[in-house]
Amino acid sequence: MDRIKITGGAPLNGVIPISGAKNAALPLMIASLLTGDTLELRNVPRLADVNQLLRILGNHGIDHTITGKRPGQTSETGQTIRLDASSVIDTCAPYDLVSRMRASFWVIAPLIARFGEACVSMPGGCAIGTRPVDLLLFALERMGVRIEIEGGYVVARAPKGLKGAEIAFPKVTVSGTHVALMAATLADGTTVVENAAREPEIVDLAECLIKMGAKITGAGTSRIVIDGVARLHGTTHTVMPDRIETGTYAMAVAMTGGDVTLENTRPEFLQNALDVLSQVGVEVSAVNDGIRVHRNGTGLRSVDVTTDPFPGFPTDLQAQFMALMTRAEGTSRIRETIFENRFMHVQELARLGAQIRLDGDAAIVQGVERLKGAPVMATDLRASVSLVIAGLAAEGETEIHRVYHLDRGFEALEAKLGRCGARIERISA
Ligand code: UD1
Repeated sequence: MDRIKITGGAPLNGVIPISGAKNAALPLMIASLLTGDTLELRNVPRLADVNQLLRILGNHGIDHTITGKRPGQTSETGQTIRLDASSVIDTCAPYDLVSRMRASFWVIAPLIARFGEACVSMPGGCAIGTRPVDLLLFALERMGVRIEIEGGYVVARAPKGLKGAEIAFPKVTVSGTHVALMAATLADGTTVVENAAREPEIVDLAECLIKMGAKITGAGTSRIVIDGVARLHGTTHTVMPDRIETGTYAMAVAMTGGDVTLENTRPEFLQNALDVLSQVGVEVSAVNDGIRVHRNGTGLRSVDVTTDPFPGFPTDLQAQFMALMTRAEGTSRIRETIFENRFMHVQELARLGAQIRLDGDAAIVQGVERLKGAPVMATDLRASVSLVIAGLAAEGETEIHRVYHLDRGFEALEAKLGRCGARIERISA
């Protein structure tokens, strides 16, 4: 298994191009099941999760083509994928494919909406607490879908099609909102989603669906209204920038010091996290087509943070921020309100010398003067990149094992950091 070796202490300086967002690309690819025409997606990141989803979609009968390299492109430039679901032959998504990635469960929405039936294995994905699908099924049931659980599979049936409905989510859910949005586009009548997630990835999906002929208003607010249409058609859509990758590199620069421009991204996608970084003592400014992050000489101040649905502080940046706070002056309280058990990075950060104490749904981080390199283990996608951030600032060598977690969500991580001066290399076993 590959591992990543980092020799800490080098500041980061230069330019980091930000990739297309994994969390937007996945639902967009799944939306291709809603039409028999071709959906062309541009700026799709080259990630293990994208490849896994292509396998799952292929199993349903979707053909895909990936265009070759064009002038000026590198292996880090997003790819263009064309998806063609004109001949879906299988509405069942099997365990061995779905269990590796939670988002693949969302195929249930377009399958039931277009074909009136779906059978999807219960999902897997990152081990960050129990991640149920009850709210996704609640949304589908509201639209008239009959759901049964058989042998670890969710079997969904709606032989007469879906009906528009009022769906009031008891808690904000990104997955539930994606599923409701996709299913409602082909339902008979109007669907109103209340307490909808407001994440930019929801807006990106809605914009693509609108280009495909869907009638949607309110995406990006807590109330989304969808008027069902009889069919959707193909279109071309460019995947939005990855705000979590953006925030991760911003925190890496905050940690090491230096001056980096994050290119092809937008501050409004992560304003809350950028404001927190300013409070920490990092200079953050919007520049043409990106964000400049700059820290020279000044120390890091401790700041308390609570994760929240968008526009709050993202849970997907919690581990990275905790890594940063290990070196800040004073004590920081980091509260996680979205996922239980999303603190598995704490014991690994402690191996580098971090002082962190857990207190219910919060982690209390007492900043230390120095971290020291050590072998550590990646436990999930965002936790593993927090170890990279810590390793970049630790004295000596840090070796991160199980980096397949990183490959699920960070495109060309070593190359992007390496070009900015980080001493980081992948060791293939
Ligand atoms: C998505 C993101 C993930 C991010 C999360 C929160 C993708 C592929 N993943 O995950 O990176 O961390 O949003 O921003 O986009 N819940 C239920 N029942 C359900 C569904 C969810 O109780 O049926 C709970 C979850 O356990 C969690 C909370 O609701 O506590 C939020 O989950 P949700 O917003 O749905 O996250 P995901 O879409 O899975």
